[in-house]
Amino acid sequence: MAAASPSSRGSWGTQFGFIMAAVGSAVGLGNMWRFPYQMAENGGAAFLILYVGMVLLIGLPIMLAEFSVGRGSGKSPIDALVAFGGKKWKPLGMLFVAAGFIILGYYGVIAGWVIQYTWTYLVDGVIVDPGATFGAYATGTNAVMAQVLVMLLTIGVVIGGVQSGIERASVFLMPLLFLILIGLAVYAFFLPGSGAGYAYLFKTDFGALFDFGVLRSAAGQALFSLSLGMGAMLTYASYLSKQDDLPKSAFYIGGADTGVAFIAGLMIFPLIFALGLEGALQGDESIGTVGALFITLPETFSSMGPATGRVVGILFFFALFVAAITSAISLLEVVTSTAIDTLKWSRRKATLIMGSAICLIGIPCAIDLKYLTLYDEIAGEVLLVIGALFISLFVGWRMKNPIEEVQQGTTLGRILPGWRTVLRYVVPPILVFILISQVIKAYTEISNAFGG
Ligand code: PHE
Repeated sequence: MAAASPSSRGSWGTQFGFIMAAVGSAVGLGNMWRFPYQMAENGGAAFLILYVGMVLLIGLPIMLAEFSVGRGSGKSPIDALVAFGGKKWKPLGMLFVAAGFIILGYYGVIAGWVIQYTWTYLVDGVIVDPGATFGAYATGTNAVMAQVLVMLLTIGVVIGGVQSGIERASVFLMPLLFLILIGLAVYAFFLPGSGAGYAYLFKTDFGALFDFGVLRSAAGQALFSLSLGMGAMLTYASYLSKQDDLPKSAFYIGGADTGVAFIAGLMIFPLIFALGLEGALQGDESIGTVGALFITLPETFSSMGPATGRVVGILFFFALFVAAITSAISLLEVVTSTAIDTLKWSRRKATLIMGSAICLIGIPCAIDLKYLTLYDEIAGEVLLVIGALFISLFVGWRMKNPIEEVQQGTTLGRILPGWRTVLRYVVPPILVFILISQVIKAYTEISNAFGG
C-alpha cells in the first residue's frame, strides 16, 4: 500500500538526471537506424529540414503537453488523465499502456539481437558472414533467450526505482553513448572514400519538401523518436518538482535526440561508402528493414580487418544496446507506474509481473518476424499517432490550466500562449492527416505480410 501514496512515488534527484533519463527514452533504435535510412531515402537534406520542422511544430508542443499533465498531476497516465479530465479520459490512459506493452514486446526482441551481436564481437571477433549470423540470431531459441535477458536487465533497473534505478543508469550510460557515437563518426570521417557517404546522405531532392509521403514519414519519425504518444514523457515528468523548467527541458531533449540521429547518419553512410559496400544500399529493400543494421554494417566492420573491425563492432553494438535499453526502461516504467498507482501493487510486484507479461507478448516476434512487423505497424505507427492526437486535444481543449502549470519553474513563460494555440489548431489537423495515411499504409503492409 505504502508504495502507492504520492509522497513515496519517487522523484528525480536532479534536473540533469531527468533530462538524461528522458534523452535515454528518446534516443533509441529509432535514431540509430530508422532516421539515417529515412533521411537518405526521402530526399536527404530536404527530409532533414522537414524533420526538424516537425520536431519543432508537433514534437516539442506534444512533449510539453505530456509534461504538463505528468508534472501537474504527479500521477501515472491513467490517474493523471482522470484527475484533469474525468473518467471519460481513462481509455486514453489505457491506450498508452497498451502501446507500451506492444512496443516493448518487439523492442525487447530487437534489443536481444543487439546483445547477441555485442557478445559475438566481444568473444569471437568480427562476423564474417553476417547474413547467416542474422538468420541464426533473429528468430528461434537464441532470439527468445536474448529477449528474456533484455527484459531481465530492464526489470532490474526499473525495480530499483526512479532515482536509484532509472536515473542512476541514465546519468552514466547516456554520456558514454554520446562519446562512443562521436568517436565513431570522427573515425568514419577520416576513412578514405567516406565523402561519397556524405554525398549519399545529403543528396538533396528539394521536390521532397512538397511531398506528402515524405512529410508523413518525417512526422511519424518525430513522434516515435521523441517517445511521444504513449505516456513515457508524461510518466517521467510526474517525478519532477515545480522548480524544474519544462520548456527548456523539452528543447534540450528534442535537440539531443535530433543530434544523435544526425550523428548516427554521419557515421553509418560514410562507413558503408568508405568500405565500398554501397551496393547493399541498392537493389532489394532489405536495407530499409531493421535486419540490414545487422547485416550491412557488420560487413563493413569485417572489411576493416579482424582487429579494428572487432573494436568498432563492440563499440557500435554496445552503443546500440545502451540506446535500446534506456528506451526499454521508459516503456516498462509507463506500465509499472500505472500498475503501482491503479492496482496498488508494490514497485517490485508491478515490475516483475508486468515485465514478464510483456516478455510473453513479445515472444511471437522472436519466433516469426512477421509479428515484429505487425507489432511495429500497429503500435509504432498507429497507436502513437492516436495517443499523440488525443493528448494534444486534451491539453489544448480539456485541461483547465496547462499554461499555469508549465509556467512554474520556467524562464520561457512568454512562449506558452502560442504553445497552446499550436496544440489546439495546428497539431490536431496534421495528426489526423498522418493517422489516415498511416492506417492505410499499415493495412496494406499487414495484409501483404499475412495474406498469400
Ligand atoms: N524513442 C525510442 C526510439 O527512438 C522509441 C520509443 C517510443 C521509446 C516510445 C519509448 C516510447 O527508439
